[in-house]
Amino acid sequence: MALSSKTVGKSLVASGLRVASTRNTSSAPKVALLGANGGIGQPMGLLLKHDPKIANLALYDIVGTPGVAADLSHIDSPAKVTAHTGPNELHAALEGADVVVIPAGVPRKPGMTRDDLFNTNVGIVRDLAEAASKICPKAFIAIITNPVNSTVPVAAEVFKKNGVYDPKRIFGVTTLDVVRSQAFVAELKGLDVAKTVVPVIGGHSGVTIIPLLSQVTPKTTFTEDEAKKLTIRIQDAGTEVVKAKAGAGSATLSMALAGARFVQALVKGLKGEKNVQCAYVASNAVPGVEFFSTPLELGPNGVEKVLGLGNLNAYEKDLVEQAVPELKKNISKGVAFIKA
Ligand SMILES: NC(=O)c1ccc[n+]([C@@H]2O[C@H](COP(=O)([O-])OP(=O)(O)OC[C@H]3O[C@@H](n4cnc5c(N)ncnc54)[C@H](O)[C@@H]3O)[C@@H](O)[C@H]2O)c1
Repeated sequence: MALSSKTVGKSLVASGLRVASTRNTSSAPKVALLGANGGIGQPMGLLLKHDPKIANLALYDIVGTPGVAADLSHIDSPAKVTAHTGPNELHAALEGADVVVIPAGVPRKPGMTRDDLFNTNVGIVRDLAEAASKICPKAFIAIITNPVNSTVPVAAEVFKKNGVYDPKRIFGVTTLDVVRSQAFVAELKGLDVAKTVVPVIGGHSGVTIIPLLSQVTPKTTFTEDEAKKLTIRIQDAGTEVVKAKAGAGSATLSMALAGARFVQALVKGLKGEKNVQCAYVASNAVPGVEFFSTPLELGPNGVEKVLGLGNLNAYEKDLVEQAVPELKKNISKGVAFIKA
């Protein structure tokens, strides 16, 4: 008789054995957090541990995971926390994972662009994607590591090379751009921030970050000057934090919240609760640009629908035109890195 994972879990627990590996099942989602000891990884681990929908939280890093896991495991929420340190333990971290979230890599220092991180970070993402493509090829892969505009194409190429690419399952996390936009718009216009929704499209660096202020909910109007100033502030918001931290890294706390929010949205989708989020994915929203962020309907298969750009005003159309060459360059650079 075939046993459901639930039955297997119960009988093992009843016999006093620990469940050694988890099933790839939406009824007990497993999230693997790669880079779990970092500035983003630690607070994101906290937020994910606190989410009752997550059954298993595997913490992977090249250093320090036992301490983070011991600490988080004392929190009275259901998720089982496991620690995995170094490449020899990566397999166990990824086995049965439904969602793999990757904040592993180095952050910016003042004066650096996200593209300056390319040489260090793309190799890290390539190696982690290589392992995920072999161990949990059906998992949703959520990439936080910068430069996101290039690391997502890198991961996609690795999955293609290994014959397991599903464009609906690889995401660049751009939620922080949305979170920031919502905070700044609500502050400027005196709106209830909890009810303010701002779609952000394009990519995740400088001119490729395009907040759609004409599509803010609730309907809000901006003067031309307000729209320009706000757009520039949103595009430079990461740099604002990098400067304020003066060499100690980039956004970690707001990013942890944004990353956890996105992972929670993926988990909800997995469980059949369709919901809408912006993310940077393989898309035909803008012809000729292979990856683009737009609002997406998320569901059990990952991207259920690319919801597109909506109606853009002239200023936003111009922003898209400025973003396209930069995005194409960033995407080709990532693809070339794998094909070289
Ligand atoms: N997408 C976004 O909106 C966004 C926002 C902020 C930061 N970031 C990016 O997130 C990344 C992480 O930032 P951070 O502040 O947490 O950095 P951090 O240096 O504090 O942490 C990075 C962690 O990754 C680990 N790591 C390094 N190589 C690894 C490997 N091969 N496997 C597993 N873990 C490895 C490190 O040990 C460290 O614990 C950076 O690339 C940063 O640019 C993205």
